[in-house]
Amino acid sequence: MSEHNNVYPVRDSIAAKAWADKDKYAAMYQQSMDDPEGFWGEQAKRLDWIKPPSKIKNTSFARDNVDIRWFEDGELNVAANCLDRHLEKRGDQTAIIWEGDNPNESKHISYRELYERTNQLANGLKSLGIKKGDTVTLYMPMIPEAAMAMLACARIGAVHSVVFGGFSPDAVAQRVIGADSKLVITADESVRGGKHVPLKENVDSALKRDGTDVCKNVLVVKRTGGDIDWQEGRDIWFDELVDKQSTECPAEAMNAEDPLFILYTSGSTGAPKGLKHTTGGYLTYAAMTHQYVFDYQEGEIYWCTADVGWVTGHSYIVYGPLANGATTLMFEGVPSYPTHGRMGEIVDKHQVNILYTAPTAVRALMAHGDGVMDSSKRDSLRLLGSVGEPINPEAWEWFYRVIGNEKCPIVDTWWQTETGGIMIAPLPGATDLKPGSATTPFFGVKPALVDNEGHQLEGATEGNLVILDSWPGQARSIWGDHERFVQTYFSTYDGMYFTGDGCRRDEDGYYWITGRVDDVLNVSGHRMGTAEIESSLVAHSAVAEAAVVGFPHDIKGQGIYIYVTLNDGIDPTDELKKELTQWVRKDIGPIASPDVIQWAPGLPKTRSGKIMRRILRKIAANECDGLGDTSTLADPSVVDDLIEHRANQ
Ligand code: WTA
Repeated sequence: MSEHNNVYPVRDSIAAKAWADKDKYAAMYQQSMDDPEGFWGEQAKRLDWIKPPSKIKNTSFARDNVDIRWFEDGELNVAANCLDRHLEKRGDQTAIIWEGDNPNESKHISYRELYERTNQLANGLKSLGIKKGDTVTLYMPMIPEAAMAMLACARIGAVHSVVFGGFSPDAVAQRVIGADSKLVITADESVRGGKHVPLKENVDSALKRDGTDVCKNVLVVKRTGGDIDWQEGRDIWFDELVDKQSTECPAEAMNAEDPLFILYTSGSTGAPKGLKHTTGGYLTYAAMTHQYVFDYQEGEIYWCTADVGWVTGHSYIVYGPLANGATTLMFEGVPSYPTHGRMGEIVDKHQVNILYTAPTAVRALMAHGDGVMDSSKRDSLRLLGSVGEPINPEAWEWFYRVIGNEKCPIVDTWWQTETGGIMIAPLPGATDLKPGSATTPFFGVKPALVDNEGHQLEGATEGNLVILDSWPGQARSIWGDHERFVQTYFSTYDGMYFTGDGCRRDEDGYYWITGRVDDVLNVSGHRMGTAEIESSLVAHSAVAEAAVVGFPHDIKGQGIYIYVTLNDGIDPTDELKKELTQWVRKDIGPIASPDVIQWAPGLPKTRSGKIMRRILRKIAANECDGLGDTSTLADPSVVDDLIEHRANQ
């Protein structure tokens, strides 16, 4: 990275109007460290409270007592904060711009319309027997009804669990069972890149699985009118239920620590875990980060290209922007359809000012050359953002130069499903930018780097990224399994939240995330556990053993490389490779498609039987010269065979 030590200083024109300039950032950050109670007590006032909190922070990261509470005696409603309180001033302002997969389809939904439709849906949910504390699973396309469904749940105190529309029926079933969902909200089909995805059919098949009978109803948005099966008594059309409801629905008074949503994410072991996010701290943090990191100014058009199935969609398409009374753009499709210029064309069409996207999308465009953006001008853009994985300096520079016309700062935002909101990122008016660095911590965030024994490292150095104290947006637990929450995040280093990421800190105190240090892959910004893919593979009758590692991939950041040992007597054919690929896609979803499958007669194991992934990663990355010490292996010859038969990528 040595040739990439460009620094992009803060622009005076941005600093002059920004929510924070250098001095303000420094002063506020200091205050947030010295007096978290005072700082966050003041910030909580950005929300409308039914009962304002008198207790601000009550948190412990101690391994034997992980307990996180913010604003614990306060009461509020998230939907009321995202809708009702804006009506007087901005009832007619657009809340959501929806851009369809088809470039000829779009619509504007005002705050008043969103309020009314959400209330109708909330009343509809109540009529189905959904009440405070119940969970509802959402498996939806990127359509306004997805935001309405989230907000309608919040309005009546139900807990939503959004499942990404690219996941398989099995994944849906697992999450319906895990969250004990009485209701699934879905659509007949979603449309992405001109192709239809059979969401309702997937739900039908999910609800045939054992254990899903907790789910009593399926509410179906008619998106395409495509053919679907219908189960009388269980299935209900969204519009038929909602149209007849009143547009007024009282907002439930929720305690600040009542759950708002569950969101499943992958870890290094076991099945995906449902992170539990709560109400007051989450919304305070989502709103504040959205305002400061994107320097959101009144009237601006803001577009986050994520899917609502991920945490980025929760915090930065729906909750943060709507709490701030912003206009948020929601895009149904994919950036490459109908042409690779689509993203820029949407920016021009809706005069987008702030564009928040992922490195993988930037790299995919970059691979087509500068001309790929010729169909748009993008002169409405003022700010760019990046999230989901490390952005390599080349992609950063291209994003800056070609998409942003060399006039938009880029906020590279590091955070996680677990953190609820952005943790390390520049503020446009306060932070000089270095391509590839997420720069410095947000207010209230106290990062540190530790060695493998948990000793804190000082100065310019590299280590494991931990956070030393609580911030309001963080997940409180894993749904139904607090012990796993403690084990996963607070037991590696006592008293610290362990992120799972490696990180370098430079001489200016800037943070450079280097990627996961655990067995979590990041493929096109999607998190995946190697263990999940491995357990899917070994469930296939031909497979004796499988090991999954990531390898560097030009566009996706990481690709999925799989070593498979077959059962005796099974032929290692290309057909079988295809079959295993389909198997994983069907089991988990297309995002888990293997990039490479290599037949492995044996896997490198220690004498105690532990697979040496370090070696498998090196072979996958074609770094076969630097394998290090292999003498501890039970059978070192296994490695030579793997190198000799290394699969072509
Ligand atoms: C990675 C997405 C480098 C990181 C919001 C983290 C990043 C995981 C960045 C969380 C970034 C996210 N720079 N790495 N700006 N943003 N990551 O839970 O490894 O889907 O731990 O949340 O993505 O992914 P998740």
